[in-house]
Amino acid sequence: MHLLDSPIRSDELLVETFDIKHRFYASSAEPMEHKELIAIARENGDDDLIDLYNDHSLGYAENGGSPDLRAELAKLYGENISAKNIVVFPGAQTGMTVTTQAILHKGDHAIVVTPSYQSLEEGIKYAGANFTRIALCPDNDWQPDIAAIEAAIKPNTKYIVFNDPHNPSGSLMSEESKQALKALGEQHDIILFADEVYRLLELNPSDRSPSMADMTDKGIALGTMAKPFGCGGMCIGWVVCQDKIIIEKLLKAQHLFAVCFSRAGEIQAMMALRSKDKLVERNMKVIKENLVLLDDFFNEYSDLFEWMLPQAGGTGFVKFKGPMTADELAAELLQNEILVFPSYVFDCDDDLKQYFRIGFSRRTMPASLDAFKEFVDERRAQWGFPAN
Ligand SMILES: Cc1ncc(COP(=O)(O)O)c(C=O)c1O
Repeated sequence: MHLLDSPIRSDELLVETFDIKHRFYASSAEPMEHKELIAIARENGDDDLIDLYNDHSLGYAENGGSPDLRAELAKLYGENISAKNIVVFPGAQTGMTVTTQAILHKGDHAIVVTPSYQSLEEGIKYAGANFTRIALCPDNDWQPDIAAIEAAIKPNTKYIVFNDPHNPSGSLMSEESKQALKALGEQHDIILFADEVYRLLELNPSDRSPSMADMTDKGIALGTMAKPFGCGGMCIGWVVCQDKIIIEKLLKAQHLFAVCFSRAGEIQAMMALRSKDKLVERNMKVIKENLVLLDDFFNEYSDLFEWMLPQAGGTGFVKFKGPMTADELAAELLQNEILVFPSYVFDCDDDLKQYFRIGFSRRTMPASLDAFKEFVDERRAQWGFPAN
């Protein structure tokens, strides 16, 4: 399969809507400013990093990520993970695609838990592997159907891919589901690729369970500076794994795809990581305030929408009960300068065609919600719903 054979679904929308007024779909945390980061680093006593930022070499940074950054990233994980278990990539997106290429071979089989981020599935196609989709279901609180996953395992199944915390639904995989996946991976010798880019954004931090990379040597976890920290511009993502052979494969593959990345981004990432609690607190404040507004709105408009309060991350998946699909609704919203992501963006089955994703981690969300509300109020009679 050629890299560009599949339409890039979210990109089609984003390219069309470069200047759109209301980015109601947006998933990553409120962007940080560099000067804000420097002020936080100074307050935290990280003058060594500020000096390093102002006086660092512009030569190639180390393949796989500089040891100082990898050591800082390892602190996000438990005792099974140290700097040598981490490979840094230019963003999580590159990390997931390169990892899949490095591990899967033509003719292998993979299982993809959907709805999912498109690139999780595309990487499997470029590797020439086959795959089976297993859908999460709102009636099961978006928990994976372990029996269905087990039934889909074939002798050549090498890889199970899932996203937890989950984009778009904002659900968290239960400890029980994670243990069941771990058992499947260990029993059938299958790698468990856990896209954990929304980790650290749990509404209730006590709901945070260990990373899949900590739980088993069959686990690979993906992280990013973008989602929890609002630092996507640093272009730093990483892959974590206990298995030394996989780490060697990733380092080799990285030579082919991305020799190195920006040392400036690495140093900025270390500043953010050393002050991670402060950054997460800043971002959770925005998320919590926005969720109060959304909860009120969806309670008031429960005749038109079904909404499950997310447990983590910056996105929620809303069911539209009106007389058109979420695709059609999104197209009409677009005419009104409001962008949401309808379910087709996430490799969804047809029974989720009434769903669309919204994002709530930006300070601009209340204005997007106001515009959305105005749109809905104008249309409700036309959709056959009485005035509110
Ligand atoms: C589930 C998921 N995984 C990975 C990514 C890519 O992360 P990054 O922007 O750090 O490459 C995204 C971005 O939206 C995402 O939602």
